Amino acid sequence: MNDASFYQQSLQNPIEFWKTQAEAIHWFTFPEAIQYKDEHELIRWYKGGRLNTSYLAIDHHIKNNRGDETAIIYDSPVTQTQQQFSYHQLLQEVELVAGILTGLGVQKGDRVIIYMPMIPETVFAMLACARIGAIHSVVFGGFSSNELAIRIDDSTPKVLLTASGGIEIDKVIAYKPIVDAGIQQAKHQVEKVVLLQRDFVKATMQPERDLDWQQLQSTAQPQTYVELSATDPLYILYTSGTTGKPKGIVRDNGGHAVAMKFSMDYIYNAKAGDVYWAASDVGWVVGHSYIVYAPLIQGCATVLFEGKPIKTPDAGTFWRIMEQYKVKVFFTAPTAFRAIRKEDPEGTFKKQYDTAALQQVFLAGERCDASTLNWLEELLQIPIIDHWWQTESGYPMIAQMTGVETITVKPGSSAKPVCGFDIQILKEDGAVAKANEEGYLAIKYPLPPGCLPNLWQDTARFKSSYLQKFPGFYLSGDGGYIDEDGYIFITGRIDDVINVAGHRLSTAEMEEVLAAHQAVAECAVVGVKDELKGQVPLGFLVLKSGMDLAHETLQQEVVHMVRDKIGPVAAFKRVVIAEALPKTRSGKILRKIIRKIVDGDPFETPSTILDVSVLDHIKAIIT
Ligand code: COA
Ligand code: AMP
Repeated sequence: MNDASFYQQSLQNPIEFWKTQAEAIHWFTFPEAIQYKDEHELIRWYKGGRLNTSYLAIDHHIKNNRGDETAIIYDSPVTQTQQQFSYHQLLQEVELVAGILTGLGVQKGDRVIIYMPMIPETVFAMLACARIGAIHSVVFGGFSSNELAIRIDDSTPKVLLTASGGIEIDKVIAYKPIVDAGIQQAKHQVEKVVLLQRDFVKATMQPERDLDWQQLQSTAQPQTYVELSATDPLYILYTSGTTGKPKGIVRDNGGHAVAMKFSMDYIYNAKAGDVYWAASDVGWVVGHSYIVYAPLIQGCATVLFEGKPIKTPDAGTFWRIMEQYKVKVFFTAPTAFRAIRKEDPEGTFKKQYDTAALQQVFLAGERCDASTLNWLEELLQIPIIDHWWQTESGYPMIAQMTGVETITVKPGSSAKPVCGFDIQILKEDGAVAKANEEGYLAIKYPLPPGCLPNLWQDTARFKSSYLQKFPGFYLSGDGGYIDEDGYIFITGRIDDVINVAGHRLSTAEMEEVLAAHQAVAECAVVGVKDELKGQVPLGFLVLKSGMDLAHETLQQEVVHMVRDKIGPVAAFKRVVIAEALPKTRSGKILRKIIRKIVDGDPFETPSTILDVSVLDHIKAIIT
């Protein structure tokens, strides 16, 4: 079997193909229908199937006599902790957290927000929710109280799980004040907060509402798994959209479990017992899929790393972990390697460690520049694989399927479509683009199992965001082209989403914050090129007449506002004061052109521009 014929099978007979893939996981009841249409006229997978994701990630391996093998390797240079959990130990921990939740009245279908750092308890909490059928929504620690409040109001959780804090390199981040403010700002009332005290930062507790994790755990009744429907939601994960309101991506249990297993077998080529490491954060989809669910469903040992590629303590951390735990498959965002390369261009640290176990490195989250790719290829002498996916898909859509065959890498391309994804480049009028012609990257609907079936309680937005522009296709939000050999090249987002250090952020959301400043009449935020982070946001502000604020003062104020409303993760640090912004005659701000001017890229002046001289003004103020 080669890649092409396997892929063709998945498009020609998707029902048979995904039935076969479903047979690779353990069901309590095998689905009666592989695909069907739900009450919203949306395509769903695995009707009638009964399973439990936590069972698949833990109990299944114990039943197969693998209970003593390592499930989680926790390595935290920031707290100098190294700890391992076997599948047996993982079961005990997860059953107790499930006991805490049921003790608080959490039932199947209830939502639980998890606002926690990269510690084993976070993984226990996710699997505990999955065990009892509660729907978790993990919120990344770099988001502010306001972002937390937005997610609380949208997902209406019964319980919020948190820890007293985390460590960012050498900075202690106290989580509890953010949680308290988030709950206060939200309209929805969170009934209980369960807090894990960490010894380097102690949180104050609010009587009645806040409960101590360890105390509850000491009396909790272990809870076993419940049988769930394939279409019951496993989690909601919020991601940036083109408006200020994030999108609640829903993942269901059945399709997700099949897709996770499928991706480990055929894309990552990782087997039970292998050590798999995704250096990301559980607050992002990469963390959900490839720190927690896929490696555990596959029976791998997964590395949970509480640190950064550099400065914890140095640019050798990644190589040290690879040697120490014999990591076989590694996954991160290119920005992490750019950070390492900046500190250690000659790869001196790498030479101090034996990374012979490492067979493949996967990169995603942002465009992988050729220079980083070449540096890594030279340094490691193993396949370095760029692959493309999104929170919405939950697993790669364009990749080398290394479990099937390895194909030549073309720098700048994420290779070819993964099974089940019929990827087309469409032009504005919906026609299919020719080879090498750039357009919208769209995917034939329905998407394969594991991809979002809908947005959390917002079918109308799901349809208008993804399915409306090109009927019969899912709109990815990215642009790209396919070359004459079928390799796909991603050219970047076609909307107001930017990628900062592999983190997906909405410029529209930042603009909403800037527009609230009393001196600002008009604004635009664009993502501009950055050597380390790929892109960083840059704000353009037009002031109200009579407002004569010094640039420094204004910059400080709006930077503070963005940190407060969105969080430090936005990495919003710079603004430029402009007299006017380039616009079309109908008043639309030409953000793409602003970005091209700042990046020094060529652009065509649109015929619809209101005042061409504004372009010269923008050129003048950024130099
Ligand atoms: N909790 C609280 N704050 C956080 C946080 C978290 N989990 N993660 C990041 N932040 C803060 C940082 O402390 C920083 O704050 P500052 O402005 O006060 O310094 C800000 O958010 C920006 O963080 P980051 O984008 O991580 O930049 P950095 O300069 O601290 O580090 C890298 C740069 C490249 C080392 C870092 O981005 C990295 O390790 N990236 C790896 C890629 C990755 O994990 N991508 C995720 C998707 S795969
Ligand atoms: P997220 O939903 O946070 O995973 O971000 C998804 C977005 O990141 C995609 O829509 C792309 O814009 C970008 N992205 C992810 N992987 C790649 C890649 N390999 N190459 C280029 N862009 C990527």
